[in-house]
Amino acid sequence: MSDRFLVTGGASLQGKVSVVGAKNSVLKLMAAALLAEGATVLTNCPEIADVPLMADVLRGLGATVTLDGDTVVVDTPAEPKFHADFDAVKQFRASVCVLGPLLARCHRAVVALPGGDAIGSRPLDMHQAGLRALGANSAIEHGCVVAQADSLKGAPIALEFPSVGATENILMAAVLATGVTTIDNAAREPEIVDLCDMLVQMGAEISGAGTSTLTVTGVQRLSPTTHRVVGDRIVAATWGIAAAMTRGDVEVTGVDPAHLQLVLHKLADAGAVVTRLDNGFRVTQRERPTAVNFSTLPFPGFPTDLQPMAIGLAAVAEGMSVITENVFEARFRFVEEMVRLGADARTDGHHAVIRGIPQLSSAPVWSSDIRAGAGLVLAGLVADGVTEVHDVFHIDRGYPAFVEKLSGLGADIRRVAG
Ligand code: UD1
Repeated sequence: MSDRFLVTGGASLQGKVSVVGAKNSVLKLMAAALLAEGATVLTNCPEIADVPLMADVLRGLGATVTLDGDTVVVDTPAEPKFHADFDAVKQFRASVCVLGPLLARCHRAVVALPGGDAIGSRPLDMHQAGLRALGANSAIEHGCVVAQADSLKGAPIALEFPSVGATENILMAAVLATGVTTIDNAAREPEIVDLCDMLVQMGAEISGAGTSTLTVTGVQRLSPTTHRVVGDRIVAATWGIAAAMTRGDVEVTGVDPAHLQLVLHKLADAGAVVTRLDNGFRVTQRERPTAVNFSTLPFPGFPTDLQPMAIGLAAVAEGMSVITENVFEARFRFVEEMVRLGADARTDGHHAVIRGIPQLSSAPVWSSDIRAGAGLVLAGLVADGVTEVHDVFHIDRGYPAFVEKLSGLGADIRRVAG
């Protein structure tokens, strides 16, 4: 049985908290290390469960991976293996990002499909279409994505939706293709920019990072590098929203506030005093938050990964909020857990309508994914009594030192085994 958290509500969060590198960046950077023979060094890595899992995937492909505190070293052999099997990839979705690098390095990639996900269907059609445009055959065979290409040739590619994962896989294949690839409607997330920065340090030719058109001129080979992982904007915003919900005063460092423009605007709309710092921000909330509407969209829109925290804020805000989910359809399962906590919430298709109440009421609740788990803990902070959050292994996948960071801000939270 998984550990659970006991959260006693009532504390107002106060103090300073720092964040380290982003989960959604480090896993892709580790995969990108496959593109160059030799040792790539990543610093500022989060100590979360997904990092050793990704290390196992890479070891299965022949790399030597060492994890030492916040430093990860991936030493890639001259000829990596091309088959990432199910045992290695089944535990986390991000493992599919080895597809592009393997195709580029080995001309062949077999990556087991990681299986379903609690936040909705996550097809790979855009990944495959992009790789096909570069000249690869790609099909699903016996539970694996199989891709093969004698040579990859640059091509114009237009994505139907700015998918983070598809942009990354296509990018990592295109850097070693011959000729020029353009990716239109590319994802613009800071983690994509981080990946582009590292690839450029490795010798790739990429322009347009952070815009919706990426242009990649293929090169013959890349060299290993040393790179510092970009700060985790989702973890940082989690602490900012927690401050607003608990009427607290929290300074968050280790993140570029430009990566959270809309989130910080929304917190200000909810009545918080928000101060932007060079390397973070401060959120001070004195009164009960006022209701704010949220609509999730690809960056620079409001992140879908913060939707559960936005619902938590809405649940205790004064007034009615409408939350619209435009990226992952099944994420509203979280609302059912919030109803257990007394939230006045209902969903209708892509929308959740929430009438804020002054205080939630503690209950046992179940995390269904990383962000839902964190959202439930935040809700527990503003509930009366002790909220038991189950299946917290999800939270461990994405939030380093979660209990320690929250306790440091004055929250009453403890982990109970089994
Ligand atoms: C990444 C993040 C995740 C975040 C999401 C959106 C990682 C490890 N995960 O996930 O935390 O919530 O971006 O910001 O970085 N889609 C297709 N076909 C495809 C690919 C995607 O239909 O081939 C759809 C998905 O079902 C989803 C939407 O596109 O509805 C966005 O998905 P995508 O941006 O690809 O998310 P991930 O890269 O999986």
